[in-house]
Amino acid sequence: MESRETFEGVFKINGRLATENLVHGVRVYDEELIKKDGKEYRTWNPYRSKLAAAILKGMKNMAIKKGSSVLYLGAATGTTCSHVSDIVGREGSLYCVEFSENNMRQLISVCNQRENMFPIFNDARNLEQYAEDVGSVDVLYQDVSARDQPELLMLNGGLLRKGGLAYVAIKSQSISVSKSPRQVYREFFAKVSRTFELIESVEIVPFDRMHMFAVFRKK
Ligand SMILES: C[S@@+](CC[C@H](N)C(=O)[O-])C[C@H]1O[C@@H](n2cnc3c(N)ncnc32)[C@H](O)[C@@H]1O
Repeated sequence: MESRETFEGVFKINGRLATENLVHGVRVYDEELIKKDGKEYRTWNPYRSKLAAAILKGMKNMAIKKGSSVLYLGAATGTTCSHVSDIVGREGSLYCVEFSENNMRQLISVCNQRENMFPIFNDARNLEQYAEDVGSVDVLYQDVSARDQPELLMLNGGLLRKGGLAYVAIKSQSISVSKSPRQVYREFFAKVSRTFELIESVEIVPFDRMHMFAVFRKK
């Protein structure tokens, strides 16, 4: 079995992306479990996770690693979160903000099995209601498909430490259907530029055609 580590805690096993499973024997979605040298890995589906897609498309700046604290906006049912949880490990922490009750139900069952994941059932616009529980974080992740995505990044960016990275899946159609995606992205970058420097943008086709995956550094 051919295996190599792409980033700390991120592996390629027989050409497929994978993370080491924090909870042995337990699947979160339809991923495959692979046993190798006494360890267990979960395959990471780039069609289900934009972060996996960005890594496979050559993203260079990976700040999510063992021990990181991460604020994740738009956690949904925990698919990508579960892999972030594998990567940050037991010393790390992952705060998962989600406002859909249906998604939250499933997310809570994932969090119950993973001691480093903390569900926050709230709107990412209500930062003041969860800021104290989260404190300062190393990494911010945002995948919320909302018109006010740039404003949400600026607001929640208040919890990101200086120099910390923000990973943002930008859906141009959620922000504007009348402007071209290129223009929407340009305006997005301009809106957040007071606080965030764009350090990388990755197109994640063929895995996802609706989003641009951007990496920012907090100034
Ligand atoms: C595209 S899905 C996220 C998928 C997830 N990031 C993954 O890769 O597994 C977007 C999620 O963001 C949530 N969402 C959208 N706006 C939000 C907001 N303002 N506050 C909290 N959650 C929000 C939606 O309910 C939905 O579950």
